[in-house]
Amino acid sequence: MRTYGYTDTLDAEHYARALRADIRDGLTRTPKSTAPTWFYDARGSELFEEITQLKEYPLWRAELGLFQLHALDIAERTRARSLVELGSGSSTKTKLILEALGPAGLHYVPVDVSEDALHQAGAQLAQEYPGLVLHALRADFTAPLILPELPSDEPRLLAFIGSTLGNFRRPARVPFLRRLRSIMRPEDFLLLGADLVKDTEEMIAAYDDGEGVTAAFDKNLLYVLNRELDADFAPDAFEHRAVWNSEEQHIEMRLRSLAAQDVEIRRLGLTVHFDRDEEWITERSAKFTTDGLRAELAAAGLKIDQMWTDPDADFAVVLAAAP
Ligand code: AVJ
Repeated sequence: MRTYGYTDTLDAEHYARALRADIRDGLTRTPKSTAPTWFYDARGSELFEEITQLKEYPLWRAELGLFQLHALDIAERTRARSLVELGSGSSTKTKLILEALGPAGLHYVPVDVSEDALHQAGAQLAQEYPGLVLHALRADFTAPLILPELPSDEPRLLAFIGSTLGNFRRPARVPFLRRLRSIMRPEDFLLLGADLVKDTEEMIAAYDDGEGVTAAFDKNLLYVLNRELDADFAPDAFEHRAVWNSEEQHIEMRLRSLAAQDVEIRRLGLTVHFDRDEEWITERSAKFTTDGLRAELAAAGLKIDQMWTDPDADFAVVLAAAP
């Protein structure tokens, strides 16, 4: 029995159509490059949870630490009674914000592409916080959002944490932030978490850990495509890599083809050729500077209310509002 509301805007057909379009487009361009959205089937969401616990991936813990220190301040500044979270995953860190806001009577809308992640988090939150008004939304936040009904007379907090903003490339970020701003009313706030530029080796290690968890996460895409598009990717014929692109200020996760090969993607009626050592960009993860964040938020019509960083300035949490 489900004890919370659930809306699926990514029905099988919508999901399949978006997947086909992105993969056809991404694997027929040079360099090959596809959206990170498709990593997150049940296995991919599980692998991401494992990534968050890796010693090489400190950004998750840095943000958790900032929430531990500042959740009450965030609650006081926003006085939000609705929390909408884009890319909510397991909602683990969000609990600190929920608890600071006061879960009884609070409306929480986790938004994610992963049905499994939403159900697992939803069931757990419903049990842990019986007074929480929970409405899970399965949606792709890169498309315009249609929110469930929320109390109209109380402030809302829109959360986009974990540095997921980094998945957008620079030219797409301001339009995306502007779109978020357009659904915000004067009393609402945006809570943004952003990983900051740091030592190159450290940034690379975060996407190429010693245990190979990130490599498994990257290659999970191949299993998703084999299953969903009836493709015949051989995971052993590819190798995971992480590269810092200093011009674009982002990490690129890449799958490198270990041999010249042709891969059939039957549901697309497409055969994709890979040269030996050709690299396919499977994810971009931008890193930010505090000045850059300020400028991008300003360009989107958002004003920073408060910014917190950890002592090493590795991660920033920003509270912004529409002035
Ligand atoms: C969830 C998009 C923020 O870019 O760091 C982690 C995803 N990919 N390791 C990131 C990810 C590989 C993560 N985001």
